Amino acid sequence: VTWPNPTDVGEVYRPAEDSDLLAGVAADRTSPGERVLDVGTGSGYVAAAVAGTGADVVAADLNPHACRAARDRVETVVRADLVAPFRAESLDRVTFNPPYLPTPTEEERDDWMGRALSGGPTGRAVIDRFLDDVGRVLAPGGEVLLLASTLAGVDEVASRAGEAGFSAVAVAEESFPFETLTVLALVR
Ligand SMILES: C[S@@+](CC[C@H](N)C(=O)[O-])C[C@H]1O[C@@H](n2cnc3c(N)ncnc32)[C@H](O)[C@@H]1O
Repeated sequence: VTWPNPTDVGEVYRPAEDSDLLAGVAADRTSPGERVLDVGTGSGYVAAAVAGTGADVVAADLNPHACRAARDRVETVVRADLVAPFRAESLDRVTFNPPYLPTPTEEERDDWMGRALSGGPTGRAVIDRFLDDVGRVLAPGGEVLLLASTLAGVDEVASRAGEAGFSAVAVAEESFPFETLTVLALVR
């Protein structure tokens, strides 16, 4: 994992074990020519791994510093709140390594790194909003790859995905001292 743009340290999420797990799974499951969106792309690490498969990749993030950093790795970068600006049924695959750290309201940081990490009190605030809308942009037969952590509750994320009309299957898992990371594949 190499850091693309030293001037952005502190404002852009540095690729870590979660980035690596999602990037590997996403690259393995993507076919050339697929239309893929990497939501919350940060440095563009996951998007670049997927682009390496010959897919047609768009990277998106709310953080303008992340958008700038990602441009070093990915051709098409869009500043966006989750999947809001994307057209209905326009994507074959959506990947997301979301902010998932449970954070009490009084400990919320009002900066871009806070936005990269905090999932609100449950850890699932951003994930829940994502699940509410991602079904709209997915083409028939499409798949969402969502990184989930025991810190935010993998079963709770899978069950929320179920309420949004998806079935969820764990396709990769890695354990660390303080959390287990799972990549959930969501299909309708
Ligand atoms: C845990 S970081 C993951 C970064 C990168 N995908 C990786 O795996 O290294 C979460 C990313 O989601 C972005 N993010 C948070 N809220 C967002 C939102 N509402 N819309 C788009 N991106 C968002 C953050 O700016 C951050 O880049």
